Amino acid sequence: MPNKKTILSGMQPTGTGQLHLGNYEGALKNWVKLQDEYNMYCCIVDWHTLTAGFENSVNLKDCIFNVAADYLSAGLDPEKCAIFIQSDVKEHAELHLLFSMMISVPTLTRLPTFVEKKEEIGLDNYGFLGYPVLQAADICIYNADFVPVGKDQEKHIWLAADLAKRFNNTYGETLVEPKALFTKIPVVPGSDGKKMSKSYGNTLMLNESAEETEAKLKRYFTDPEKLRKGDPGHPDICPVYMLHKIYTPDHEKEIAPPCKTGELGCVDCKKKLAKNLNGALEPIRKKRLVIEQNKDYVWDVLKNGATRARERAAAVMAAVRSAMKMDYYK
Ligand code: TRP
Repeated sequence: MPNKKTILSGMQPTGTGQLHLGNYEGALKNWVKLQDEYNMYCCIVDWHTLTAGFENSVNLKDCIFNVAADYLSAGLDPEKCAIFIQSDVKEHAELHLLFSMMISVPTLTRLPTFVEKKEEIGLDNYGFLGYPVLQAADICIYNADFVPVGKDQEKHIWLAADLAKRFNNTYGETLVEPKALFTKIPVVPGSDGKKMSKSYGNTLMLNESAEETEAKLKRYFTDPEKLRKGDPGHPDICPVYMLHKIYTPDHEKEIAPPCKTGELGCVDCKKKLAKNLNGALEPIRKKRLVIEQNKDYVWDVLKNGATRARERAAAVMAAVRSAMKMDYYK
């Protein structure tokens, strides 16, 4: 589509690759909406995963499959949106290399994402230092206008825009300066009340059964002052109520008032949530079961996605080489 703006989104295939409710509400659900309005590229960034440990490569294949299967189950449509693997499009690596000449080491070592991970898990390899440069290449190689991300990625998108600008100032207008696309996303609390995250072990996974989800909800933190039915509750600080806000349309009438008076106990409240949450996830789970039986379909989607992505990436890369006067044979 000629007049559509372009979006590039990226997700790392980490752990088992299966996505949790936080990934879905925070990103995927939004992408499914965006694919109708934009020219969309959804990249599974396998090289980025290696920055945290190159031995991780042995699990990548299963992981990538699971991410792709969850994407498709959640409603990303390969007709509308190119779903592909980063390492299938070598142009990301070429632009990354060129970008790496245009940015100083202190700029990278000062980024909060670098500082945090270095302190947390001692990451200090060369590839990890270049993580945001590779991310900038992921984005700029498609001349993407927008990148849907969470606030934690703001600096990375800013850096991508800065690299594009620097390139343009040096070699002439070639690259689009991308912008972050922040959308209002609900906070999805994990079972311990903290942000849902695989590293906290507090997740509800998209591909779990309805029974597993209900069992996990039973163990969810609630208002610590509401110990038994009859105690007045405080929905505004309750993780279960936060989920009701997403999945129970009438939560303001049906849940909050009886919780506050004590009439509604946590056990029943969680049962209601389980019903609504499972209802919302049922179509995704059904589709997931079908897709899982169809492994070849998933790999075909990724292969075709890469072909489409490569087309655009090759055109932008040719423009980059030409602007740099590195198209030697022309
Ligand atoms: N850094 C992103 C994250 O951790 C993943 C990512 C890599 C990405 N390349 C990207 C996101 C390009 C958006 C665009 O979530």
